[in-house]
Amino acid sequence: MFVDEDNITDLAVERWATAHSPRLGELMTALVRHLHAFSREVRLTEDEWMAAIEWLTAAGRISDDKRQELILTSDVLGLSTLVVQLNNEFTPRATPATVLGPFHIDGSPTAPHGFDMSDGIPGTPLFFTGRVTDTEGKPLPDAVLDVWQADTEGAYEAQLPEIDEARLRAKYRTREDGTYCIRTIAPRGYAIPMDGPVGDLMQRTDISHFRPAHVHFLIDEPGYRKLITHLFQADSAYLDSDVVFGTKDALIIPFTERPAGTAPDGRTLEVPYLHAEYDFVLQSR
Ligand code: BEZ
Ligand code: FE
Repeated sequence: MFVDEDNITDLAVERWATAHSPRLGELMTALVRHLHAFSREVRLTEDEWMAAIEWLTAAGRISDDKRQELILTSDVLGLSTLVVQLNNEFTPRATPATVLGPFHIDGSPTAPHGFDMSDGIPGTPLFFTGRVTDTEGKPLPDAVLDVWQADTEGAYEAQLPEIDEARLRAKYRTREDGTYCIRTIAPRGYAIPMDGPVGDLMQRTDISHFRPAHVHFLIDEPGYRKLITHLFQADSAYLDSDVVFGTKDALIIPFTERPAGTAPDGRTLEVPYLHAEYDFVLQSR
């Protein structure tokens, strides 16, 4: 049968429907249908098709084990957040999930209750305290909170060359009563990397390339749904324009200013600090 504009989609769908796994067949035939529909809708020109191929090639070339421009592409298109949303439909009582982002590093060192994970990096001291519980409010002892964040310049350890010790990341454990205490420094809002193909594209729009100030948390407890989330500072800039669509009302909390004195870890602090209180609620499997 000769191929023409009217039958090309059906022919391509038919071919990809021969995939050996039913799921691969479902994914590929839907992809073909949507790509063809897109091209028809916008009447894609050959120059535009080539520009897209060159853009994807450049995104691949700039990626390496520390930089992933294609994940960033998914992030700024809202696709990453949509996929998180589709796969983490927790009850409203549970802490909502958000994107992992590209800067998580596996194997952070374990830290005792109240440990200062900023380890002398300049910044305003910030404490997180609260509990980890199930959706009935039962405290979870010994739960591990894997925490990571950017410094006051907006830089993550993963973006800096030659760091041989964990920087602004650690794993904390809850105590018998489910409580945790984290000491760090206040993060700042930061720009996503703008020196690659994603940046080139965004410069041609009015999209803000900033994320509001936040700290990342990962809690993976046996018997519970894995929780990957962030906590955002309530008065931070960019809360309503987060470039990766990660902000959620339930995750915006005040970082309350406190005077020098006894800090939440029980030690005396000579300088004013910030205190954020949050209970993480895990959904059972
Ligand atoms: C982050 O939160 O670290 C992040 C997430 C997605 C894209 C860029 C950064
Ligand atoms: Fe981040």
